[in-house]
Amino acid sequence: MTTYMVVIMTTLVLMSIYIIGVLGENLYENEQIKLYEKANIISDSIAPHLLEENMSTVDNYMLQQLTGTGIRGIVVNPSFNVLVDSNRELNGTVLMRDVIKTASEGTQAHTLLKDSSDMNMMTIAVPVIKKETEAIIGVVYLVESVAQIDKTIGFVRFNLFLFSALICILVGLLSFGMSYIVTSPVDDFTKIANEISKGNFEKRVAVKGKNEFSKLAMAINFMCSELSNLEDNRKKFISDASHELKTPLATIKLICDSVVSTPDPDPEMIQEFLKDLSDEVDRLTRIVERLLKLTKLDSGKSAPNPVPTDITALLNSVLKKLTPTANAKDIVLYSDYKITECAPLMLDFDKMWEAVYNITDNAIKYTDEGGFVKLGLNKEGKEIIIQIEDNGPGIPYEEQEHIFDRFYRLDDSRARDTGGTGLGLAIAKEAVILHGGRIEVSSEQGMGSTFSIYIPATLECEKSDNKI
Ligand SMILES: Nc1ncnc2c1ncn2[C@@H]1O[C@H](COP(=O)(O)OP(=O)(O)O)[C@@H](O)[C@H]1O
Ligand SMILES: [Mg+2]
Repeated sequence: MTTYMVVIMTTLVLMSIYIIGVLGENLYENEQIKLYEKANIISDSIAPHLLEENMSTVDNYMLQQLTGTGIRGIVVNPSFNVLVDSNRELNGTVLMRDVIKTASEGTQAHTLLKDSSDMNMMTIAVPVIKKETEAIIGVVYLVESVAQIDKTIGFVRFNLFLFSALICILVGLLSFGMSYIVTSPVDDFTKIANEISKGNFEKRVAVKGKNEFSKLAMAINFMCSELSNLEDNRKKFISDASHELKTPLATIKLICDSVVSTPDPDPEMIQEFLKDLSDEVDRLTRIVERLLKLTKLDSGKSAPNPVPTDITALLNSVLKKLTPTANAKDIVLYSDYKITECAPLMLDFDKMWEAVYNITDNAIKYTDEGGFVKLGLNKEGKEIIIQIEDNGPGIPYEEQEHIFDRFYRLDDSRARDTGGTGLGLAIAKEAVILHGGRIEVSSEQGMGSTFSIYIPATLECEKSDNKI
């Protein structure tokens, strides 16, 4: 702010100095022209009388020309003797001035002098020339006070500086006000940014008015709530993951302790314990593997590797893989595709396969013996839809939005008994999102569930912009 003030003040002062300079020069020049005109008129008029040495006529003429003008007129001869002085003071004396000397040599001249009271005086001298011979027969020397001009310049100077000072004060007040308006929200933003960097996402910026700052404040507040959600999710994820890992570890510890505390365990019991141990280790491995997979998907490290994929072949491959599991539970696993000829889609085969597999695996896992699981394929508008339908227990409406959350299980103990980690649907969702698609579930308790994977048809191979 001080820099602005200095710049404005310097500009105003320089401008004032320039204006005063130009004005003074102009006023002096005008006065000088006026004086030269007067001196030349006098010189022309008195030349014949000077020749005749008719001094009283010269004197009268001078008086007539100069009375009331404030100009003092002096006529000297080429030897610098004062012939006539309108003030009568120098008559008969010798008056030697630079300008008079220059004029006596034939060139009119002027200069500024200070009088005894330090007032600026403009003096000019013009030669008096005898017409016939061009001989210089004298000099007319005029002296005029320029106090009035100086007074005018002084007045203008005073007003200009006053005006500059007022402008400076005004600009100062305005910039102070502006800087308050501009810096106070910026200060708020800086405070919030500092709080965010300390991990405090609960703070919010006050949204005032409807301007760019309020838009920024709203964006910052939105960012804060998103960061806060992220942070909550992160904490929840860590706590859920720890909890999930703790359960099998506790079981392992329990099994080990039982074996250790049994004095003479029979081999059959050890065999049984080892089998349980192996199951728990499998479970741990499954959780860790899925966690790693999710983390990779999340961090974007596992970039999609799209290849032209025959979607029916992908579905058939999942079907084939899960048929033994379905058969073991006496569940009819079959396909019913509405479209049979679908152009290959640019998909990351492994990731999409896993998404379909996880959902189909769930359908088989959670459907009671004797049920059915159907794999469907359809195309609606600009989307290819993969549907996995079962006639299992269904998912209550209020739970449907949560089942894609990490570690979320409807019935914890039951899901865990089936070897569930609560990560299968989260992985499936991430994989589908990676393809620009979405997953929806429609289900009614006791009536079975249908999971639908929507894939944008833009991924079809014939299209030129086949990118994931
Ligand atoms: N077809 C389905 N029928 C009923 N419940 C299901 C079905 N699919 C998923 N669920 C519920 O959603 C939860 C989350 O599924 P998922 O993420 O695959 O975890 P899990 O490892 O337990 O299978 C499951 O625990 C189950 O309660
Ligand atoms: Mg599952």
